Amino acid sequence: MLDLHEKRIVLGLSGGIACYKSADLVRRLIERGAQVDVVMTEAATRFITPVTMQALSGRPVFVDAWDSRVHNNMAHIQLSRGADAIVIAPASADFMAKLVQGRADDLLSTLCLARACPLLVAPAMNREMWLAAPTQRNVQQLVLDGIEILGPGTGEQACGETGDGRMLEPLQIVAELKRFFQPKYLSGVQVLLTAGPTVEPIDPVRVLSNRSSGKTGYALAQAAWEAGAEVTLISGPTALACPYGVTRIQVETAQQMLDAVMQCVTGQDIFIAVAAVADWRIKNISTNKIKKDGSSAPMLEFEANPDILATVASQHTRPWCVGFAAETENLAEYAHAKRLRKGIPMLIGNLAQHVMDAEHTTVSIFDDQGEHALPLGSKQDIARQLITAISERFNQSHHSR
Ligand code: CTP
Repeated sequence: MLDLHEKRIVLGLSGGIACYKSADLVRRLIERGAQVDVVMTEAATRFITPVTMQALSGRPVFVDAWDSRVHNNMAHIQLSRGADAIVIAPASADFMAKLVQGRADDLLSTLCLARACPLLVAPAMNREMWLAAPTQRNVQQLVLDGIEILGPGTGEQACGETGDGRMLEPLQIVAELKRFFQPKYLSGVQVLLTAGPTVEPIDPVRVLSNRSSGKTGYALAQAAWEAGAEVTLISGPTALACPYGVTRIQVETAQQMLDAVMQCVTGQDIFIAVAAVADWRIKNISTNKIKKDGSSAPMLEFEANPDILATVASQHTRPWCVGFAAETENLAEYAHAKRLRKGIPMLIGNLAQHVMDAEHTTVSIFDDQGEHALPLGSKQDIARQLITAISERFNQSHHSR
């Protein structure tokens, strides 16, 4: 199912150059299954035309409070009824001030005041306007009023200055919105994950590694963030972008991964080891590229890498630990044994031939109650189900301490 399937979003645009990004935002929301009704202030129409927004949303665009296209002539009431959320992007400093004061002198501000649904606001303004005391006071008041503030981002601004106040990128706003609609099972919980492969050098140009796209670990990191957790992801080399909202630390070797985990582990509530860590590393790494001398193959000496999960699980004050096991046969037997050997309360197992590079996957949870199989789903569906299962068990163990 699409992320925003059947969600009805009212997208409000107030005046600002970031209006050009809202055109793309409409596309991204619709792509994910949302229905988008666009409402613009008069100032917003100076930056982008209602025709553009109508063509992209496929629905009528409203600007005027007296628009006679709406039943009963009550656009300010009708448009937000049945909506799942109003998102103001861009939200100018002036529009935020209006929201704080409860002013209703145009369609969009009246709609916000008369709403019966959540309101999310993505500020977009020059850095001095953002940092100005009245704006910061208004932001605080909006938060107290239960309004979600999305961003703002930081970086280069249309005025040529650099700093805070940029509107979040369309995909970041989509990520925030997806998060907004997820239940917050892990609110305030710190989650540490490992993901991807590790890469062990043989010489300056050759490596020993495991097959791992990192998709499962990254999807779990994102699902944990969506569930309200503060997430740190320690990742081996992958082609994936860091999930929005997640702090990523990039490493290459198993030893670097262990070092990074041990540096971050204090204060973490949950540790999820998804990485496909190379079990061995090369002991006699060559400082120069190994040449093909005649027909003899190089003699590589191996030594065992540290077991990161077992190391964390054996600490005196340890987070609640979850392991992964990709097997090629005898899944249940190996998974149960591995869970006990690593000393962890939960292990997620699957058959490697079912998951490598696949978009859809199937997994089983192994805990002290036995095996629980999850139905086949996209990596994102499975990740959300696993985060729910992890949070249930974590919260139980937390409360029974
Ligand atoms: N793991 C780890 N550090 C290692 C090896 C594995 O943290 N050096 C973690 C993985 O991230 C995973 C779990 O341990 O969560 C299972 O790893 P796996 O390599 O499949 O298990 P092993 O105990 O090495 O057993 P085997 O290789 O015999 O299947």
